[in-house]
Amino acid sequence: MQRPARIAPSLLAADCLRLGEELDEVKTADLVHLDVMDGHFVPNLTFGLDTLRAVKSATSLPVDVHLMISNPDEMVEKYLDAGADIVSFHYEATAHAHRLVSLIRDRGAKASIALNPATPVCLLEPIIDELDMVLIMTVNPGFGGQSFIESSMRKLRRLRRLCDEHGVNPHVEVDGGIHARNAQEVAAAGANILVAGSSVFGAADRAAAIRAIRDAAEAGRRKIA
Ligand code: DX5
Ligand code: ZN
Repeated sequence: MQRPARIAPSLLAADCLRLGEELDEVKTADLVHLDVMDGHFVPNLTFGLDTLRAVKSATSLPVDVHLMISNPDEMVEKYLDAGADIVSFHYEATAHAHRLVSLIRDRGAKASIALNPATPVCLLEPIIDELDMVLIMTVNPGFGGQSFIESSMRKLRRLRRLCDEHGVNPHVEVDGGIHARNAQEVAAAGANILVAGSSVFGAADRAAAIRAIRDAAEAGRRKIA
């Protein structure tokens, strides 16, 4: 089954003094991406549980929580309690990926593992059958507005081969440096959920920016249909 392209604006690039209005301006998107950074796993601090609760109360879109934290084992349950619809934790941050995936799915949320740029896709081999989504970081996590790392294209293709070998079809999310000019290429290589921070919130017309990225991604998806 071919999955349609979905766009997930990242609130990291939004004006945090006007989060409610910002959410309203991206209501034509498919998901809202919330970057949780702890100042330890990555050298930046962002949102936490209170922001997730506030975002949940202000949007009807599913909230895609990206945990860039050192202790997902301790924190995942709290983010589920606060309403996360999708939870991505980093492979690099836990020795218990399987336990966390089971916990997230048992609670009815979608489970996803995020891989840093230097972490190979083959590490997911033992667990790929259990995943609802894989998040391929296309920049080093920690900051918005960075440039897309080109070797991510190879990782996307490897991930697709791994999924084909296992006969599974998880969502594949790309995060970092995504804009309308590279959306077609990443979508053709297997990504179906595109996180976009600066390319959406840096645009005056957010709905138009979302549409442009989605149109490009859909063109890419058609290439592999
Ligand atoms: C980076 C975050 C991204 C970030 C992407 O660590 O995980 O979600 O917001 O920002 P852009 O789209 O500006 O690269
Ligand atoms: Zn993110």
